[in-house]
Amino acid sequence: MKVAPSLLTADFLHLEKDVRIVDEHADLIHLDIMDGTLVPNISFGFPVVKSIASIATKPLDAHLMVVNPDKWFERLRELGVSWVSFHYEAAGLKTARFLRQARNMGFKAGVAINPDIPVEKLFKYIGKADFILVMSVFAGFGGQKFIYETIDRVAKLKAEISRRGADTLIEVDGGIGPGNVAALAEAGADIVVSGSSVLGSEDPAAVIRALQEA
Ligand code: DX5
Ligand code: ZN
Repeated sequence: MKVAPSLLTADFLHLEKDVRIVDEHADLIHLDIMDGTLVPNISFGFPVVKSIASIATKPLDAHLMVVNPDKWFERLRELGVSWVSFHYEAAGLKTARFLRQARNMGFKAGVAINPDIPVEKLFKYIGKADFILVMSVFAGFGGQKFIYETIDRVAKLKAEISRRGADTLIEVDGGIGPGNVAALAEAGADIVVSGSSVLGSEDPAAVIRALQEA
């Protein structure tokens, strides 16, 4: 399993410390960017992304929980972000266009969905997206409880990806830790995002390792 720790629950007074731990052990670094409009919360913006990028060596994975996500692709690319996902709820009929645009700019491009959207809605983007981000909590806050139905959603999506022989990856995000990662691995997840389980732990490196071994 590839692991993308989320910095949403980092210690922002000592952000460098958490970035260095995550950067040393993780596969990707997940950046949760919120605008207070698509989701009922605001996280951090470009100055923080820039600081993180200045010391990160692992790929930066920006999860855009914002309206008009395409507006920010260029800026993120200039900062060195290499994976970008945006919400289907924000993009709607423009989803295919945004994926194309992000891929043409050199990003690994993904489309994300909240738990209340049928996963079948994204079948048409298999092959057009480098990854699909299946939310296992409602986007907006770290530290929420994992929604168990996600396992079935991931399995359904994985079956369709395999049926088409596509190489689109499945990333799952929210409430993930050592207790539920094995079920996600079995269902076909390729990447898990984990915020509070990793950075809320005494030993983040050990938690990342446990997740990777699933
Ligand atoms: C939720 C974010 C997630 C989340 C992960 O809006 O997209 O990345 O913060 O954190 P935990 O693992 O605490 O749910
Ligand atoms: Zn996220």
